[in-house]
Amino acid sequence: MGKDMVIAIDGPAASGKSTTAKLVAQRLGYLYIDTGAMYRAMALKAFLAKISLSDINAVAKMVEATVIDQKPGPDGVQTFLDGRDVSLEIRTPEMSLAASDISTISIVRKRLVKLQQEMGRQGGVVMEGRDITTVVFPDAQIKVFMKASISQRAKRRLEELKGKGIDCSLGELEEQIAERDSQDSQRADSPLTCTPDSLVIDTSDLSIEQQAEKVLEAVRQKAGMA
Ligand code: DC
Repeated sequence: MGKDMVIAIDGPAASGKSTTAKLVAQRLGYLYIDTGAMYRAMALKAFLAKISLSDINAVAKMVEATVIDQKPGPDGVQTFLDGRDVSLEIRTPEMSLAASDISTISIVRKRLVKLQQEMGRQGGVVMEGRDITTVVFPDAQIKVFMKASISQRAKRRLEELKGKGIDCSLGELEEQIAERDSQDSQRADSPLTCTPDSLVIDTSDLSIEQQAEKVLEAVRQKAGMA
């Protein structure tokens, strides 16, 4: 069904985008692309190379010389930074904040948006992030905005981090998520916003299966199969 669609999903941190996008991609046989992981990989590179984000020339040079790639993997997707699998390393709370910080820099966004547009050009993709419905694929056939209460999002992120062996408290996570929400939705370049033509899904009381079903229902309707 609808083999060539672009399904664009945006929403704040831990709103259920990744789990839903992965399941939808799996059901449709589509490619899943996690754009947040690309910003995280860029942030990791800056951190490892000790590049200050206020040194725009150094950031520009780094961006130019960096290769970021994603491939389908056992956990949905694997992220490679200059050929090295960094899928786990980019998941720490520190890298979450660092990714939010580096994502405010336009030169970084420009490079990653171009890469994401190339990755999704042929359709058959589920791409999730903060600016997919507004900047990367504003003409996507399916546009979704996912949201959930902050306490629910912090709980989910805690479980996810525990599963990866990363230690954190619920209170700390709530604070970090609130900080990221505010930075991601108030930055000057491509802030997180819900477009009027997006299907809004509040995931606070939904199971992953129910979340995915809402998106799949929209796909069926678009494909004229409902
Ligand atoms: O989805 P995530 O939590 O892994 O994203 C990490 C950060 O990357 C997020 O706080 C903001 C930034 N980001 C962005 O600016 N644009 C995207 N399309 C995806 C993520």
